[in-house]
Amino acid sequence: MDRLRINGGAPLRGKITISGAKNAALPLLAVGLMSDDTLVLENVPHLADTKSMEGLIRHHGVAVSRRDETVTLSGAASSFDAPYDLVRKMRASILVLGPLLARYGEARVSLPGGCAIGTRPVDLHIRAMQALGAIVELADGYIQARAPQGLTGGRIVFPMVSVGATENAIMAAVLAKGSSELVNAAREPEISDLADCLNAMGAQISGHGTDTIMIEGVNSLGGATHRVVADRIEAGTFAIAAGITGGSLTLKQARPRHLDALIEVLRLTGIDVREVDDDLIVTATDRVLATDISTNPFPGFPTDLQAQFMAMMCVADGSSRISETIFENRFMHVPELVRMGADISVDGGVAFVRGRRQLTSAPVMATDLRASVSLVLAALATEGQSEVSRIYHLDRGYSKLEEKLGQCGARLERINDGKEDDDVS
Ligand code: UD1
Repeated sequence: MDRLRINGGAPLRGKITISGAKNAALPLLAVGLMSDDTLVLENVPHLADTKSMEGLIRHHGVAVSRRDETVTLSGAASSFDAPYDLVRKMRASILVLGPLLARYGEARVSLPGGCAIGTRPVDLHIRAMQALGAIVELADGYIQARAPQGLTGGRIVFPMVSVGATENAIMAAVLAKGSSELVNAAREPEISDLADCLNAMGAQISGHGTDTIMIEGVNSLGGATHRVVADRIEAGTFAIAAGITGGSLTLKQARPRHLDALIEVLRLTGIDVREVDDDLIVTATDRVLATDISTNPFPGFPTDLQAQFMAMMCVADGSSRISETIFENRFMHVPELVRMGADISVDGGVAFVRGRRQLTSAPVMATDLRASVSLVLAALATEGQSEVSRIYHLDRGYSKLEEKLGQCGARLERINDGKEDDDVS
């Protein structure tokens, strides 16, 4: 298992180009199941998760090839079965359900794994498929779904906002007979990216980016070339890295419009944030001020930046209250930050952080993707040497992290002690 050895205390300065978004690339790779024509996806980040999804789509029989950041998908699927061994690595594997069902009338998908942040059920995905006429059974750890006559358009009212269920519903409804309406849909930029790609392939989707999405079903989709939107979570992570180390980073192609909530909060902490076209320039000169946040669906403060922001609040001037409203059990970074000297107490979904001038270096362990990067940020801000173990979590979501941070003055190296990574849940 790889570890990261970090010698902290140096302010980060320089330029980082933001990669394509993991959370946009994953559903877009699943779109490869929806057409026999060629789909070319550009700006697909090199990550453990995109590799897993490419493997899953290939398993279904579609030809998948990659050259640098461009992935080409073509041909029809021949297997509609997504087995546990492939799905357990990544929760987003559930995104093949809608495409397979819509295009082939059947899908058998193992119940997923993924980051251990709460129970994360898939009931909303299943209900969306049922609303489009699918017959769904749960047996032996699998979702077995059928629509022998094809799906039919319908009205799907989501009782709570779900990014993945909205994506599955869109992909299914695109090839259903008739019109569909998605009410209380997720508004994340990754949803719009998916809809833009599908529309380029011949789908008829409107209203994406709002909470009501309308879809006119079509018989088939053609090919397209689509560029994956920038990763707002990667950009936000580096913005916080500039803040926590008292440095200055220019984040190229960061798409500031997708980071409004974070930018507003960073300004409240006293960090200077400037938007220049698609770039973001983040400069911290003084110790940051404590600021409260509450996570919310887009356009609110992203849950995927909560851990990183908490790391920064650990060294802020004053006390902050951090409310996690999307996932239960998403404070697994707290005990590790406390090992580094942070003063945090948790009450249900709320963490109270009393800022300290300095954390202390310590060996810590990553527990999920965003929690692990929060530990890297804390270590970068701390004088002395820290080691973050189990960093395979980082490789699921951050492309070339050491290289990107290293070119901005971070002192970190990857150490491999030769053991195999297995547990990726
Ligand atoms: C996606 C993102 C993830 C992000 C999350 C919230 C991807 C690949 N992952 O995950 O990084 O943290 O959005 O922004 O895009 N829920 C149910 N039943 C369901 C589905 C979800 O109760 O069937 C609940 C979840 O447990 C959670 C909430 O809905 O409490 C939101 O989850 P959801 O938006 O679905 O997250 P994901 O799509 O899994």
